Amino acid sequence: MKPLALYVHWPFCRRICPYCDFNVKRWRNQDTEAIAKALLADLQQEATWRGDHWRLEALHFGGGTPSMMPPEVLQQVIACAKDLFPVAGNLEIALEANPEDVDNFPAIAEAGVQRLTLGIQAFDAIRLQQLGRQHSPEQALKAIKTARDLFPSVAVDMIYATPHQSVSAWQDELSQVTRLPIDHLSLYGLTIEAGTAFGHRPPQGLPDNDLDSALMLLSRDIAAEAGFQQYEVSNFARRGHQSRYNSMVWQSCDYIGIGPGAHGRHHVSGQRFAVRKLPAPKAWQEAVMTDTETKNLRGLESFETLDAVAAVQEWLLMGLRLCQGIDLENLPDFLPANRQALVQSIQQYQQTHPNIWAFDGRFISITDSAALRLDYWLAELCIAIEI
Ligand SMILES: C[S@@+](CC[C@H](N)C(=O)[O-])C[C@H]1O[C@@H](n2cnc3c(N)ncnc32)[C@H](O)[C@@H]1O
Ligand code: SF4
Repeated sequence: MKPLALYVHWPFCRRICPYCDFNVKRWRNQDTEAIAKALLADLQQEATWRGDHWRLEALHFGGGTPSMMPPEVLQQVIACAKDLFPVAGNLEIALEANPEDVDNFPAIAEAGVQRLTLGIQAFDAIRLQQLGRQHSPEQALKAIKTARDLFPSVAVDMIYATPHQSVSAWQDELSQVTRLPIDHLSLYGLTIEAGTAFGHRPPQGLPDNDLDSALMLLSRDIAAEAGFQQYEVSNFARRGHQSRYNSMVWQSCDYIGIGPGAHGRHHVSGQRFAVRKLPAPKAWQEAVMTDTETKNLRGLESFETLDAVAAVQEWLLMGLRLCQGIDLENLPDFLPANRQALVQSIQQYQQTHPNIWAFDGRFISITDSAALRLDYWLAELCIAIEI
């Protein structure tokens, strides 16, 4: 049996944060019963389409704000997934939560979630305000303490490189966070995305490239000193607390995406497919509930067969985000037939750029010093090996 992950997208939020370009919609008392039915229909059709031979290893509720999901909907989706797929003994069930939903945490734990990822983003009241967040530092602290009592794994997301942020202020703030009872840290530099409120009116006082790099290096040092091992560009974990779902995505495993705008990746008979569901909740809901007898997947925005170049590029771009890098002895089935030539050209390129790429006889990875410009070096690698 092959490992499979399942991503469930809950697109609704109380308010839309000015930096966020995920597929999100403001919550307006939508019909949760109808959404639940659509999620179950989406899951059912995907399971039928995927067929046998898959073992579910990770189930991830992302958003949006899935901590707003009615607990009975959460329970139904988890039960349905367990019913439809053989499940790994140590299946990871994770959910992204906002601190405002602290009162829902007991019901979320009761439904079977073991890993809670808290969107804290900042502990400083002014930074929280700049980011348009709805919670206070005190609420953030309460959410962490409550989560600690309920979930075996507690993760925290933070955003740095915000307006007028100094190195010393970030040092104090992040050091404070690492002393909290948490198992995992995601540290993201603020990105200004087109189409968001910040994209339309960028805030004043954003850091320049030098300050941005200094903040990133400092983040790595503070996390390491506090015992969090970096395992991906922006992710740090205590032993045994890496995100299973994210790691499977970075390792190019197959995953199903259900819900509005959810992405999936599949490989069938040596070919790689990229699937995306319709992003508008109503359109997705109507499409998955119509023609339920058909064998084709419903509610799709796109269903793309990745050609060899696109499949190799995605495999490299995802896998080389991991500190461990890419396993050249264990290549995914969907790579092209001339896979040995591909491995050789990657190895040859590494030998001519040992300061950028490291090779330990099996894994190829970015060196620490080059990791600050990962995107640049990835593009160079793809050009050099002619993909
Ligand atoms: C799906 S989002 C948010 C989940 C949750 N609703 C929340 O607000 O905490 C997952 C994470 O991506 C990060 N993120 C989202 N947009 C970002 C941006 N423009 N720049 C940097 N980090 C971002 C945040 O840290 C966030 O917690
Ligand atoms: S950051 Fe989280 S709460 Fe804010 S809009 Fe995005 S998904 Fe919603």
